[in-house]
Amino acid sequence: MATFNLNGKAVTVNEEGEMPLLWAIRDHLKLTGTKFGCGVGACGACTVHIDGVATRSCVTAIEDIEGADIQTIESLEKDGAPSSVQAAWIAEQVPQCGYCQSGMIMAATALLSENPNPSDEDIDEAMTNICRCGTYPRIKKAIKRAAEMSNG
Ligand code: FES
Ligand code: FES
Repeated sequence: MATFNLNGKAVTVNEEGEMPLLWAIRDHLKLTGTKFGCGVGACGACTVHIDGVATRSCVTAIEDIEGADIQTIESLEKDGAPSSVQAAWIAEQVPQCGYCQSGMIMAATALLSENPNPSDEDIDEAMTNICRCGTYPRIKKAIKRAAEMSNG
């Protein structure tokens, strides 16, 4: 069993402590924006924020996040308006199949909250998620656009 805050609301999951957070989010708490890709911490499709840090939820046990603040892709939109990162993603038409994109957006959001004006090198270093469709150049453009939107 574990209790934590999910997108600002306290939730309790009555399951074994080893359960991956991704399972809890998708199967028990019914938020399916966070995706299952590899299940071994390699691809980043399952990226959420844990206390503001981009984290792979498929390799995070719920017993290790007791009391933590978890944010998923569903938390980014506010009053029907996309976040600046989501708006930049739309403007740059980033997704192809879309499967990796929730994780990409969560990783980019965490990067920009730590570093509001990242260089190409900063982006390469922070964005370790995998996109099988090869949308990396557009992801980089969208991160720069989001940085301009937030800074300007
Ligand atoms: S599904 Fe978690 S890193 Fe791939
Ligand atoms: S858009 Fe298809 S895997 Fe990234």
